[in-house]
Amino acid sequence: MKTVNFVHMSEGTAREYEFLAGLEKEYAKSLPDRLMKTLEGLRSTLPGYKVSRLEHSLQSATHAYNAGEPEEMVVAALLHDIGDELAPVSHSEMAASILRPYVSDHIYQIIKHHGLFQTYYYHHHFGKDRHVRDRFKDAPWYQDCVNFCENYDQNCFDPDFESKPLEFFRPMVERVFSTPKMHFV
Ligand SMILES: [Fe+2]
Repeated sequence: MKTVNFVHMSEGTAREYEFLAGLEKEYAKSLPDRLMKTLEGLRSTLPGYKVSRLEHSLQSATHAYNAGEPEEMVVAALLHDIGDELAPVSHSEMAASILRPYVSDHIYQIIKHHGLFQTYYYHHHFGKDRHVRDRFKDAPWYQDCVNFCENYDQNCFDPDFESKPLEFFRPMVERVFSTPKMHFV
């Protein structure tokens, strides 16, 4: 069977769905490759900064790695802005969704909220409240999200910083994305 026969899902047989599930499992194995390619493509996004989004991501992951963070956190730092191109208004949620099945809920929450927490560094220049993150003060991940923004995000726009190359992180991406911890369907 190269393809299923059905053109409406309602007409699929158990055998066809079993066939598709096998292919999907295989396809999932190349997720690390697709993530690396997408990161590679972040060379051209968001003009105006001194470094590309890829370099920003590498600096973020390098800082996390150098600080001795667990691998999940290093990979989360590497991917935290992967949604910039396709989700300019909700990039945090996009990155968090990609990571969610593979990392702890704690890290998922940090990545999901980092965009809002990051407004601390510039909202006041637009006459807005830079303390919007305070509404999450009681969350168990609050301080770690503050720390993420301070140590692995707002400080990662430095053209003179020596970041590790993207390939350095490939084995970590492969390990973290090897086994989902949760399934949604
Ligand atoms: Fe960032």
